Amino acid sequence: MPQTKATPPFTPPIDESQIQISWLDYVDEWGNRFPDGESYSLIYPQVTIPSTAYYVPLEVNGTTIPYGSEIVRLESTIGIYGTGLLDAIPDDSLKAQYEREHRAGVHLNPAMWAGSDWASTGLYGNTRHPKRFTYACSRGPLQDGPGANAIWNITNVTRGDRRYHYMTATYARVASQDPNVQAHFYQYYPQYNTGDVEADIYNYLMSRDLPAEMSNDDYVNLMVWHRGLAVPAARNLSDTVIQRGRQLFREIGCAHCHRPSWTTGPDRFTDPNGFFTTGDRRLPSYPHQKIWPYTDMIQHQLHMQNDIRTGWCRTTPLWGRGLSAICTGSADRMHDCRARNVIEAIMWHGNVQSDARRSVEQFRNLSKADRDAIVKFINAI
Ligand code: HEC
Repeated sequence: MPQTKATPPFTPPIDESQIQISWLDYVDEWGNRFPDGESYSLIYPQVTIPSTAYYVPLEVNGTTIPYGSEIVRLESTIGIYGTGLLDAIPDDSLKAQYEREHRAGVHLNPAMWAGSDWASTGLYGNTRHPKRFTYACSRGPLQDGPGANAIWNITNVTRGDRRYHYMTATYARVASQDPNVQAHFYQYYPQYNTGDVEADIYNYLMSRDLPAEMSNDDYVNLMVWHRGLAVPAARNLSDTVIQRGRQLFREIGCAHCHRPSWTTGPDRFTDPNGFFTTGDRRLPSYPHQKIWPYTDMIQHQLHMQNDIRTGWCRTTPLWGRGLSAICTGSADRMHDCRARNVIEAIMWHGNVQSDARRSVEQFRNLSKADRDAIVKFINAI
C-alpha cells in the first residue's frame, strides 16, 4: 500500500505519476459469449512501477526487495457503510458459518480455518477475535479495522493513542540523508534543531511522542460516523422481476457465498487499541438486528487473471453497491474495479478452478430475461 503524498520538505515513498496502469482484454473459455449469443467484454488491470518511481527501496519486514521482483496489484477501497453492523455479528456466528462451509466441503483458506477451529485469530489485549474486515480478512474488531487504522496510517495524522508516524527506518534514513530535505527541514520543524540535521530528521520521523494532530474528540466523532454510516435501503423489492432475480440468485448458488442475512448479537464491541472501552457508550451499537449484507464474511478463490494478492478474497457484501452508478456515475465492481457492470462481475467468477464455477455455469444457461432479473435484483439490494 504505497503512500504517494508527502508534506514538505519530504518526498513520497513512491512517485505516483510514474505508476502505469493498463487495462488488458480478457477472453474467457466461452469466447465472452452466452449460449444464446449475447456477448460481454472483460478487462483487467496490469500495473507497473518503474524503479525510478521508488524514493526508498521496497522492503518486507526489514529485508530489501530487489527492484523488478515485486508484483503489483490494484485494490480499491471497499465501502465502509454498514461496517458497524458487520462488527456486531457475534464471533460465534462467524465460526458457525466456517463450520457449515467446512462440512459442505467448501475450500477454505488454511490460513484462516484449520478444520475444526480458527487457524489464526488476532490477539487483542487478552481477548481473541476472528478476522473479518478487509478483502484479506486481516482485521478483527472494527475499532482496529480499516477505518480506525486508515485515518492514521494513510493520512499519517498522529492522534492521542498513536503519537508516532506510520514509518519505516529505511524511509527515515533516506529522508535524513536527502540534501533537499536537509535544506528545508528546520523551516518546517525548527523545534527539532539540535544542529545535527541528519539526526534531527531521523529522530523526528521515528519519534514515539509526537504531538497529537487529531484530538481525541475528533477521533471519537470519526468512529461515531464510521460505526454509524447507514446502509441504503434496498429498493423496489416488490417488483416481480426483482423477486424473480432474488429467487434465481438463491437457486443457482450465489447465496452460498453471498449469504443474505445475519443477526447481530449483544454488540459488546471491543477495541484492541484500548482507546475505547468494551461497549463504550460514546459509540453507537446495534444489538439484535436482522441485517442483509449478502456475504458469508469468508474468503474464496475465483482464480481471475491478475487476481488479488494471495488469491483469497472475502465475499464482498452486496448491500448498497447497486447505488454506485447513481451516486458516482460508475458501476465498477470487484476488488480492483475491473468489472464495469454486474454481468462482467459475475463472469469473472467463472474460471474453471473458481469456487463459484458451478453457479456461473448455471447463470450462463439461464435465459437473457432471467440473467437480467438477477442483475436487477443485485442492483436493487
Ligand atoms: C464461491 C463463493 C462465491 C459464489 C458462489 C459467488 N460469489 Fe460473487 N463474489 C465472491 C467473491 C469472493 C467476490 C469478491 C471478488 C473480488 O472482488 O475479487 C464476489 C463478488 C461479487 C460481485 C461484485 C461485488 C462488488 O460490488 O464488488 C457480484 C456482483 C457478485 N459477486 C455476484 C455474484 C452472483 C450473481 C453469483 C451467482 C452467480 C455469485 N456472486 C456467486 C464469491 C462468490
